[in-house]
Amino acid sequence: MVQITFVEPSGNQIDIDVSDGWSLMQAAIANGVDGIVAECGGSCVCATCHVYVDPDRAGELPQPGEEELELLEEVKAERRPTSRLSCQIKATPALAGLKVAIPECQT
Ligand code: FES
Repeated sequence: MVQITFVEPSGNQIDIDVSDGWSLMQAAIANGVDGIVAECGGSCVCATCHVYVDPDRAGELPQPGEEELELLEEVKAERRPTSRLSCQIKATPALAGLKVAIPECQT
C-alpha cells in the first residue's frame, strides 16, 4: 500500500491507500474521487483520467510512453508540464505521499 493524495477540482483533498500495482485512476474510481472519468477503463485511449502531478515529484515517475504522450495532446483542460494520465501511473512504494490534482474538466 502506498498513500496518494488526490486533490479534487473543488480543492478537496483525499488521501487514499493504493495497493501496489494499481493505477492511480483505478484507486480514484474505486474511492469515488471527483473529476476522474476514465471512459476507456484504463486502456489509454480516452484521455479522461488527466491529472497534474506535484511538480516537486513529477521527475520521480517513469516517463510517459508514446501512446500517453499522444493522448496528452487531446486533454480538454490545460496541459501542463506535469500533466499525466492517471491510468498510466502505477502505485509503487517510491510514490508514497505523492499528490496529484485533478483538472476542472475531462471531456
Ligand atoms: S482511463 Fe482512458 S486514457 Fe486513462
